[in-house]
Amino acid sequence: KKRLGVLTSGGDSPGMNAAVRAVVRAALAKGAEVYAIYEGYQGMVEGGECPLPAPSSRDNEPFMGNVSLPQQACIRPISWHEVSGILQKGGTIIGTARSLAFKTREGRRRAARNLIREGIDRLVAIGGDGTLTGADLFRREWPELLKELVENGEIRPEEAAAYPQLAIVGLTASIDNDMYGSDMTIGTDTALHRITEAVDAISSTAASHQRTFVVEVMGRNCGYLALMGAIATGADWVMIPEQPPQDNGSWEDRMCSVLKAGRDSGRRDTIVIVAEGSRDSDGNPISSDRIKQVLEERLGEDARVTILGHVQRGGSPSAFDRNLSTLLGCAAVDEILKDEPHPEPLLIGMHGNRIVRSPLMHCVQQTHVVAEAIANGEYERAMDLRGNSFKD
Ligand code: F6P
Repeated sequence: KKRLGVLTSGGDSPGMNAAVRAVVRAALAKGAEVYAIYEGYQGMVEGGECPLPAPSSRDNEPFMGNVSLPQQACIRPISWHEVSGILQKGGTIIGTARSLAFKTREGRRRAARNLIREGIDRLVAIGGDGTLTGADLFRREWPELLKELVENGEIRPEEAAAYPQLAIVGLTASIDNDMYGSDMTIGTDTALHRITEAVDAISSTAASHQRTFVVEVMGRNCGYLALMGAIATGADWVMIPEQPPQDNGSWEDRMCSVLKAGRDSGRRDTIVIVAEGSRDSDGNPISSDRIKQVLEERLGEDARVTILGHVQRGGSPSAFDRNLSTLLGCAAVDEILKDEPHPEPLLIGMHGNRIVRSPLMHCVQQTHVVAEAIANGEYERAMDLRGNSFKD
């Protein structure tokens, strides 16, 4: 029987559970065996047993939610039944982590040994660009890692020969929507809904007091959530990393004159949305507190800062994210269970409402090129690259 491992890694995002469910069930339906790797790459590094809390120890507890889930990094088979009822749950029931050990060669060698011990040579990795970068490196090193394991006597030569390749398919899951190779990443739509609801709620209290709110949203160096959130809520001003103010001397003036015009025309509330990665034209971070201060000092506004934080990442996934995850998960299984999986790792994404397959390595590299272009102030180039995501 074909045996595949599934893991979620990096920051969690709503829809990861739906993706895990789709991968597990589609693979089981095709007759494969599926193993869950708990706590992201850390589970591969540590391997070993996955003890569940003993039933007897639970009997006297008044409330023991989620007790049947492992709490430590490990690898274990996962059944159809275990992914019941998770489609609508936020986060990931198989846990996630940013594993430092997997960043080391020794950690990846242990991970390879543990996969071989479990007989797993196919992997579906669900996460952001860090996760997929790790997956790509691991796959490229696989033959050497196996050679070292044989030399160290940790696996037998027959075992190494039985698993010459590690097949990998990546699904991009992150609220940031910063991955090359997919129009949307799993979780972005839900985070956008969360931001929209929060800003709508803030607007009513802002209007009651005639206040200004500076709302900071996540996204690292990607302004998608801030920009789309601003459009969806009709915010008065938005700041994103991809289009910093050109003129450090006067962006405050322009912002203030737009916000004052709004007040003069009768607005009772003012909303400014700031992406967490926003910078000025010298590359210095523009913080929400700095904007608040400008608005207080120049306009005499009664201003407040709301940092939405991890509330954007949690909670039930939107219908779009559930369906995107399900479609991507099924497509990942179709790919990974082929008798001859694609020789290169693939990223399964969505483009123009269709499921598309792209070389994972290329997508990871281009994601980094875009991030570097933004960090270097090459904004037009960054936008061209993002826009060209599917033209090359
Ligand atoms: O990449 C997802 C993300 O939520 C970013 O938007 C944010 O900058 C970061 O993760 C927060 O990371 P952590 O959960 O480690 O605080």
